[in-house]
Amino acid sequence: MKKLVISSGAGISAESGIKTFRDADGLWENYPVMDVASHEGFLRNPALIHQFYNERRLQLQGAQPNAAHLGLVELEKDFDVRVITQNVDDLHERAGSANVLHLHGELMKVRSMRHPERIYQLPCDQLTDKGLTTTVDTRDPYGDPVRPHIVFFGESVPEFEPAVGLVQQADILVVIGTSLVVYPAAALLQYARRGTEVYYIDPNPASVPSWVHVIPKKATEGVADLIKLLRNQ
Ligand code: OAD
Repeated sequence: MKKLVISSGAGISAESGIKTFRDADGLWENYPVMDVASHEGFLRNPALIHQFYNERRLQLQGAQPNAAHLGLVELEKDFDVRVITQNVDDLHERAGSANVLHLHGELMKVRSMRHPERIYQLPCDQLTDKGLTTTVDTRDPYGDPVRPHIVFFGESVPEFEPAVGLVQQADILVVIGTSLVVYPAAALLQYARRGTEVYYIDPNPASVPSWVHVIPKKATEGVADLIKLLRNQ
């Protein structure tokens, strides 16, 4: 089976009602990014960060995977599909994708601030707060405070190397719904081997090298087109 690697960003979840970051009325227009998504912001005002990700989590609970997430699952019949996502939502998993690597962490998880390897999926009975929300006072079973399992600006991206490994093995690479401005994620494209077919689905695509086949459509329509294209090859 050919290896099909997907690299998704916020745009794939837009049609599920989750706001992107940099579009008009995007999250970073309404919240100061360095307050709610940076390492320094977290040190400065951790309560605000807990509140911000609590809100995101509650919103995610009400959202459903869309036809683009589901279309990628459909492709698993014909391809060895691996998803690399910058998204912290769990919509790829809920759609049924078997292999999902989260470059920027996961919204439905928190981790111990003292022992980062202790990761808790929310809701979690072992925490002092048993629902989907956490505060600076939430403690894990060892009495340690927790923080969102999110990669903040200013922190390393531990999943980047495994992601590069996947892209290097790709026969086909499909980039979906990302502005390609946040590094190192935006650099993944450059690791495709020569001869790899590369597609980029985005209604407002960033500029990309000429060997990338751009599908300038929303994710749901673009993935439907992609499925047809790949089946007719
Ligand atoms: P951006 O908000 O930067 O870009 C969203 C992209 O989605 C844009 O290129 C839009 O044109 C496109 N888009 C909008 N609607 C779409 C639709 N219906 N279908 C397909 N595409 C659509 O989001 P990312 O590139 O994912 O990091 O942002 C990268 C990182 O920046 C995020 O992971 C986040 C943020 O800071 C962290 O929070 C760590």
